[in-house]
Amino acid sequence: MKSNLCDAVEKVLIPKSEIDKRIEELGQEITEEYRDKGELIVVGILRGAAMFMSNLTLNIDLEVGIDFMAVSSYGHSSESSGTVRIIKDLEEDIAGKNILIVEDIVDSGRTLSYLVRNLMDRKAKSVKIASLLDKPERRTNEVDVQFKGFTVPNEFIVGYGLDFAQQFRNIEDICILKKSFYEKEI
Ligand code: IMP
Ligand code: MG
Repeated sequence: MKSNLCDAVEKVLIPKSEIDKRIEELGQEITEEYRDKGELIVVGILRGAAMFMSNLTLNIDLEVGIDFMAVSSYGHSSESSGTVRIIKDLEEDIAGKNILIVEDIVDSGRTLSYLVRNLMDRKAKSVKIASLLDKPERRTNEVDVQFKGFTVPNEFIVGYGLDFAQQFRNIEDICILKKSFYEKEI
């Protein structure tokens, strides 16, 4: 969906053309990083990373396995609930394999610090992170993001997979949501 057709959008932060360009670069970086390193499983975190996951994996010039996880997130508010719960787990055994977690945004860092620990406990060979966005101002848990798309300000972001209360995921640009939308929810 074009962002100018959505009246919840305050402004476009990163247009689709820039997103595509950056994901191509990330795909190249990831290709170089994992060349001749053994098996790589790319793990997309549902549902926010869906668009990033498909675009990114198409830009990796290696044979990779694809899997998905779903974890609890913000529910219907714009504040994090503080706990992480696995709603859908991996289909594959990851022992001895390289794992690249693909996430939409690192905010507090709680989700990813939990996931990295959880996947390392399963004896993965390595666990790294590719995140489309990084919102460093709200970080409470330190996470090392090896492949980062863009740094964003402390605003509520929608589009290119990111939602507010399950809406706006299919906007093609990365956008700032109008404050009036989430302030009335809290
Ligand atoms: P965490 O606070 O780093 O654990 O972030 C958890 C999840 O919150 C992310 O994977 C997103 O799904 C969601 N999230 C954080 N910030 C935003 C935002 O600005 N827009 C939409 N979703 C967000
Ligand atoms: Mg998410």
